[in-house]
Amino acid sequence: MVLSSPVYADSGLFLCFEGGEGGGKSTQAKLLAGWLESSGREVLLTHEPGATEVGRSIRTIVLSPETGHLDDRTEALLYAADKAEHLDKVVRPALDRGAVVITDRYVDSSLAYQGAGRALDAVELESVLRWATGDLRPHLTVLLDVDPEAGLTRVDELVAGRDRIEGESLEFHRRVRGGFLDLATADPEHYLVLDAGGSIESVAAAIQARVGMLL
Ligand code: TMP
Repeated sequence: MVLSSPVYADSGLFLCFEGGEGGGKSTQAKLLAGWLESSGREVLLTHEPGATEVGRSIRTIVLSPETGHLDDRTEALLYAADKAEHLDKVVRPALDRGAVVITDRYVDSSLAYQGAGRALDAVELESVLRWATGDLRPHLTVLLDVDPEAGLTRVDELVAGRDRIEGESLEFHRRVRGGFLDLATADPEHYLVLDAGGSIESVAAAIQARVGMLL
């Protein structure tokens, strides 16, 4: 049983991009930020892991192939610590001053990668993550759904060498994809699921249409 209940910020707008590797989250997050800024809004574009000083060290540990094997719980706690720090130092202050916060990955990434991917107990893991974040939830999560084979091929074309998580098996990445889709299915009011295989322009237009309804 998860003991907390969802909290939605009552000032600012909290938006999140989620999905597997190579789905174009960062591109779409930037496009959305530019679109919102062009209408005069304050936008904070951020990401997990690694948007704070402590987070950057955590990012090196969890993603560097030199780290090698980590106990599943150690990995989950490191990602959770990055989230707590990110919320405290970056996300909450921006929401408090009324900004639109767009984060590239958040709690769902951990539920999908450490939960569905690593097969940690889902309820225990969720309790840790909700505790780490005070159960603050995005007003909307955009899930860019991508076939892992296609996404990883795209990653291989763009960067040399896979990181610790990208280097996991195709089976792992398939479980992650299923984990994301299950989360979206369970709470359709707070998710927009889009096929990452669409053109950059058509995906951006669909995101703008949905976000426009929240403004
Ligand atoms: P990215 O910043 O390039 O998207 O890489 C972050 C990687 O870390 C990506 O493979 C997903 C993974 N990840 C987790 O496993 N758990 C998490 O909580 C987060 C935020 C990311």
